[in-house]
Amino acid sequence: MRLGLGTGSTAKHFVELIGERVRAGLDIVAVPTSQATRADAERCGIILTTLDETPELDLTVDGADEIAPDLSLIKGGGGALLREKIVAAASARMIVIADKSKWVATLGRFPLPIEVAPFGLGATRRAVEKAIAAIQGPGSLTLRQDKDGHAFVTDGGHWIIDAALGRIDDPKAIADALSDIPGVMEHGLFIGLAQTAILAGPDGITVVERP
Ligand code: A5P
Repeated sequence: MRLGLGTGSTAKHFVELIGERVRAGLDIVAVPTSQATRADAERCGIILTTLDETPELDLTVDGADEIAPDLSLIKGGGGALLREKIVAAASARMIVIADKSKWVATLGRFPLPIEVAPFGLGATRRAVEKAIAAIQGPGSLTLRQDKDGHAFVTDGGHWIIDAALGRIDDPKAIADALSDIPGVMEHGLFIGLAQTAILAGPDGITVVERP
């Protein structure tokens, strides 16, 4: 199987469990969605490939920051959204794994990560503000910082604007508007990518299929 490996604290558990299975003989190759996941996978002995060598994957397993009932997602809390979306889109199937706190009726309580080019940040930020305001009223935009107070830099060398929107009533409209802005490299709305969510809660595991 050709597998996409997600990023984040939940996906890290999956990588470690797959590593155990690989050491027991499971035959897979995997594409990591971040440098952090690459390091974890290498440590676990998982054979890695790239989307250049292996442009089509069978399955991606990844976490999420929010999951709506139609299995649209907000991702990018860990800053890996661009590679996560490229890998998910190259996969025949995406399964999202999360604890039940990520399940929401409407997306948007978690600030929406928007990955932007450092060049022209002020203009891109203004365009993002206008696009969001035209669809659902103003949101509050913050440039993500690292622990030293510098701009957080993604694996692709970009920055992230976190958009606190409260709720996103029309995720597709927001997604399309953001994708039209030249300085936006990618946004954290994953629509139509996940087929299955596996949610862990106090009562056990719930499996939700996309309607
Ligand atoms: C990484 O960029 C994110 O998309 C993560 O998949 C998401 O933030 C979930 O992470 P946790 O499993 O750590 O909550």
